[in-house]
Amino acid sequence: MSEYKIWAEEVLKKVRKKMEWVSEKNRDKIPYTTLETGSYDDRSEERPDWGADDGLYWWTNGFWGGIMWMLYQDSGQEQYAQIARVSEEKLKKCFQDFYGLHHDIGFMFLPTAVADYKLTGNEDSKRLAMFGANLLAGRFNPVGRFIRAWNQSNGEEVPGWAIIDCMMNISLLYWASRESGDPRFSHIAQMHADTAMKNFIRPDGSVRHIVEFDPETGEIVKSYGGQGYGEGSSWTRGQGWAVYGFANSYKNTGKREYLDAAKKVAHYCMANLSESGIIPVDFRQPKEPAWEDSCGACVIAGGLIEIAGYVPELEKEMYLRAAVKILKAIADTRADWTRNCDAIVQNCSSAYHSNPHHTTMVYADYYFIEALYKLAGTSFCIW
Ligand code: GLY
Repeated sequence: MSEYKIWAEEVLKKVRKKMEWVSEKNRDKIPYTTLETGSYDDRSEERPDWGADDGLYWWTNGFWGGIMWMLYQDSGQEQYAQIARVSEEKLKKCFQDFYGLHHDIGFMFLPTAVADYKLTGNEDSKRLAMFGANLLAGRFNPVGRFIRAWNQSNGEEVPGWAIIDCMMNISLLYWASRESGDPRFSHIAQMHADTAMKNFIRPDGSVRHIVEFDPETGEIVKSYGGQGYGEGSSWTRGQGWAVYGFANSYKNTGKREYLDAAKKVAHYCMANLSESGIIPVDFRQPKEPAWEDSCGACVIAGGLIEIAGYVPELEKEMYLRAAVKILKAIADTRADWTRNCDAIVQNCSSAYHSNPHHTTMVYADYYFIEALYKLAGTSFCIW
């Protein structure tokens, strides 16, 4: 057994122990972050004070279910499937209000409905996920050949905005083509991936977060720093979405250029990796304040492990070594294994300029746990 696998198995023992009580305690919730008490919040309800996007429609609402499905697959324990289905059942309601949903439907339904269908063959889940895929496909702008990201930003319609995160969402389209035998979904995913490859990845391998296109002509208008430090910067989680997302597009299509794109961004990330293995919010942020994003760290690590699965033996080690360095920094210095906090991964930042920094985010736990299962060789394919 490789040393990485042995290490991952050891950490997974701690994950299983913690998630046993965390899952039971939060079985009826859809958590996003922990409150001051250390307990998870709950995004299951429409809360007018949160705004429509932050309640049931909140884009991270698939990750808690995804963690439960990973634990179910690992343990075979029915209780995890039951808790996962609480999220899935609640998320069904989202289809009643078209306007609350946007391109993150992939993040919401791949780890819930698609995972359920893949693991249990549940036809209701397949139907739900196909609705999601149709909605995502409907966001495609055929002139600009991109998938529209959000509906609004600061109260303004943004029909020309595409963001790098969408590279993860398009796995829902690849899945829908396989399931339905209809290549349209995959065509849309590939056209979006081609546009992202051309317009988001800079020559040095760093990646833009938001690119605005003219929705009438498809011409590029400008780019924005988005959740990173600023225009021209390099938001680490966005780099992770690119590494992982292009690797997924390679997996789903076999097109070599997607793997090359994933590797190009991965090499940029590895070149910027600090000695400590701790990942900042932005690779180009000022030295102080030294804001970190453990979530971006876990996403990058997951993408590196994904790439390692598609390269010749001689190349693998470089990606795995970097991924394990990042994950070890989390497991040894940024993980809470106690009962003081429901989340494991600490020091996450949703964006460089938004407060608070160094919080918990359920998708950091998701990508941390997923990366460990990938290293242990016992993951199942959600993306
Ligand atoms: N997809 C938005 C984020 O990573 O925060």
